[in-house]
Amino acid sequence: MTNAAPSETTPVAAYYERHIFFCLNERPNGEDCCSLHGAKAGFDHCKRAVQAAGLAGKGQVRVNKAGCLDRCAAAPVCVVYPEGVWYSFIDESDIDEIVESHLKNGRIVERLRIPEHLGR
Ligand code: FES
Repeated sequence: MTNAAPSETTPVAAYYERHIFFCLNERPNGEDCCSLHGAKAGFDHCKRAVQAAGLAGKGQVRVNKAGCLDRCAAAPVCVVYPEGVWYSFIDESDIDEIVESHLKNGRIVERLRIPEHLGR
């Protein structure tokens, strides 16, 4: 019997296949932020769409809230891991496309990607 720790190259199954984080940051001083651009509605819709598609849970998809992700210039924003793909969205149909194409089928939605140069 061996109690050796896994080596750094041992593959580990991810708890979730994909993780999507939505910035829901609010700035009480009136400064621009994702919450002023429909972030909560997008998050809520994504939660419902992932559930409805049967994608939620271990080994599948997790939808999470986040604070400021420092890409406010593209508000509202979300990011999908493990690919590290950043999106901005306008409405529920954009969220539906991210769910169906990327979260379900692993195809990045190019038209919704945030340009690299957009930060805070
Ligand atoms: S307020 Fe959403 S990324 Fe900064």
